[in-house]
Amino acid sequence: MKLFQQLVVVFFVVFVLFGGLMMFSMDIIKIDWVTMMEIQPSFDAQEDPLPVPARSIPVEGPVSIPNMGAPVNPVPADDVSIQRAANLYTINCAMCHGTTGEGNGQIAALLANRPTNLTLDVTQNKSDGALFLTLTNGVPGRMPPMIENLTVRDRWDMVNYIRTLEPSQ
Ligand code: HEC
Repeated sequence: MKLFQQLVVVFFVVFVLFGGLMMFSMDIIKIDWVTMMEIQPSFDAQEDPLPVPARSIPVEGPVSIPNMGAPVNPVPADDVSIQRAANLYTINCAMCHGTTGEGNGQIAALLANRPTNLTLDVTQNKSDGALFLTLTNGVPGRMPPMIENLTVRDRWDMVNYIRTLEPSQ
């Protein structure tokens, strides 16, 4: 029986040492174990997605096709649309463009490029489609693209909402 107890202790010690060694070697040796979940055409976080395949159409419909001009607004500017956008505006835009859209949000002063005063003619004279594309693609280095934060419908609602913004005298 004594021998058995000794064996147990020896096995335990060896097991702990080996386990500890494995934990550190995992980080160094980095064996690329084959796991089935790994073998798939997906993208890791922060990895650039591939360009959209030619002639493919997004599930939400072909809202804007590159080089085919600005799309036409399919969403009527009714109360529902404006109300939806008002909520989304508070979450996604107000910190830069300000609650009234005049480009004076909380973080506006900290930005190298001042957010546009959306109430002015410069913006209001642009077509719905042009504003939609700006929201979709952002302005590189100045305004983040909203293509992932806002659905197509959300972005058209937002265009309708921009139309309701007026300069406060
Ligand atoms: C990080 C701050 C920031 C956020 C967030 C932001 N914007 Fe902007 N936006 C800017 C800046 C800066 C510009 C000016 C870009 C330039 O100088 O051309 C701009 C430009 C625009 C323009 C173009 C105006 C024009 O006359 O062409 C529109 C429209 C607009 N923003 C709407 C929005 C809406 C709607 C949201 C929310 C969904 C939003 N922005 C979120 C910073 C922001």
